[in-house]
Amino acid sequence: MIEIKDVEKSYTKGSVTTEVLRGISLSIHRGEYVAIMGSSGSGKSTLMNIIGCLDKPTKGKVELDGVDVQTLDDDALSAFRNKKIGFVFQQFFLLERTTATDNVLLPLIYADVYPEDAAARAGRALADVGLEDRKDYLANELSGGQQQRVAIARALINDPEVILADEPTGNLDSQSTEELLEIFKRLHQGGRTIILVTHDREVAAHAQRIMELKDGRI
Ligand SMILES: Nc1ncnc2c1ncn2[C@@H]1O[C@H](COP(=O)(O)OP(=O)(O)OP(=O)(O)O)[C@@H](O)[C@H]1O
Ligand SMILES: [Mg+2]
Repeated sequence: MIEIKDVEKSYTKGSVTTEVLRGISLSIHRGEYVAIMGSSGSGKSTLMNIIGCLDKPTKGKVELDGVDVQTLDDDALSAFRNKKIGFVFQQFFLLERTTATDNVLLPLIYADVYPEDAAARAGRALADVGLEDRKDYLANELSGGQQQRVAIARALINDPEVILADEPTGNLDSQSTEELLEIFKRLHQGGRTIILVTHDREVAAHAQRIMELKDGRI
């Protein structure tokens, strides 16, 4: 599903160049559940952003579902990303004074055609994360754990094959972390590919495979 070859990433700011990724090759199979660990600043988010086509490598190749993403122009890349990948972040990035349903519908606004069954799809996505009874609540009327579940429902609205989650439990208590892991387990059993960045070994242990980033390498 994901094939990364000799990926390097460096950032230049002023006269300082930081080499963050120094030659990463990895493959992740369709339906696999992988955790990525590594100390703060080791490049986990950088790698996730490259896998998710939010950022481009300085060198190397990224293939998603058999497509070399470098061959796509910006529009094609956005469309491809929107269809294939659902993102979940540590910050939930919800619109606060907006209902759970409307937050979940946001990615559809960027789709070429706004689907007729949008509301029904939002309802199903919210039901998938156990929030059918909160669909009309504003985001700021929900607990942190519930807000993260809305963010997961939003990630699911386009029925993506891949879920990329960067520290999704970072702002959650242990109960909400359990609930989130339970949802990820179900998504995985449903055939989705999941890549989860975490600092927490117990969280990482839910994945089938753990990769560790160190000194810019896996
Ligand atoms: N846009 C950018 N411009 C310059 N440097 C950057 C940029 N993004 C990240 N970096 C640098 O790249 C390194 C890796 O950052 P990254 O966010 O990938 O780390 P991380 O492993 O996700 O850390 P954390 O666990 O704290 O989230 C850091 O030293 C950071 O300062
Ligand atoms: Mg990070």
